[in-house]
Amino acid sequence: MVILLIIVPGRNSQELAHKVSKLTNYKLLRTEFKRFPDGELYIRIHDNDTIKNEDVVFIQTQNNQNDSIVEGILISDILREEGARSITLVAPYLAYARQDKKFNPGEPISIRGLARIYSQLFDRIITINPHEIHIESFFKVPFIYGSAVDKLASYVKDKLDNPIVLSPDKGAINLAKVASEVIGCEYDYLEKVRISPSEIKVAPKNLDVKDKGVLIVDDIISTGGTVATAIKMLKEQGANRVIASCVHPILIGDALNRLYVGGADEVIGTDTFPSPVSKISVDDVIVELLKRI
Ligand code: R5P
Repeated sequence: MVILLIIVPGRNSQELAHKVSKLTNYKLLRTEFKRFPDGELYIRIHDNDTIKNEDVVFIQTQNNQNDSIVEGILISDILREEGARSITLVAPYLAYARQDKKFNPGEPISIRGLARIYSQLFDRIITINPHEIHIESFFKVPFIYGSAVDKLASYVKDKLDNPIVLSPDKGAINLAKVASEVIGCEYDYLEKVRISPSEIKVAPKNLDVKDKGVLIVDDIISTGGTVATAIKMLKEQGANRVIASCVHPILIGDALNRLYVGGADEVIGTDTFPSPVSKISVDDVIVELLKRI
């Protein structure tokens, strides 16, 4: 059975919501966003009489973390009030997911706290490349996730000679593996080795990058510190070209400049986190995930 959904765009995902509606023919509602003079948010969904008994998808990436979360609470309130049959939150970038455990006593497990709230507000959650998949257990409703790493790899496939894929650390090696399968090349992870008390070296654990075109793949580039250091060292080790890629290009402050000065030939990311390098859309990944509901 084909279920027709209604899409409500979040303030940060108007373009992405439009793309998803174009790919699917799902109805895109008009949503109005304003801010009161004291900073509080105002939201109104127009055509509210079309919501009753419908399955509604709220597409809102959470790049401006706190506002996005409040917006989700308000949208859920409107949709429940109007009698939606189900509400799906599509948060391509899920905020607070990096505090997925207690690193120090007295800290919250932030995403667990939010998962408790989302589990009451929404009937299911969809996201892309969550930082750690174990966060699924915090949700009391279905938590569905997909990956955009194969799309990053497809984008660079013909841009590298003698390619190799590297993850910036061992934890992200699976992302490198997925990308390498798309490109058809070897993969490895970068290891930080202390050479002397004041000197560290970052190099692939097992492979050599001399005369290789390198794709670095990570879920997030935030300050760019990790990847900029890696690029500089890979170039010193003879890499002929380095493309830095990530799913969620947070790119705080001067991160992009830092990457280019470090020697990046190109930086790419997706529109889960709108940025100057969001060259790849996750629209079709979301469409595939919506087919599972
Ligand atoms: C860490 O586990 C993440 O996968 C990224 O490697 C990290 O968030 C990147 O941070 P930054 O760009 O600030 O070095």
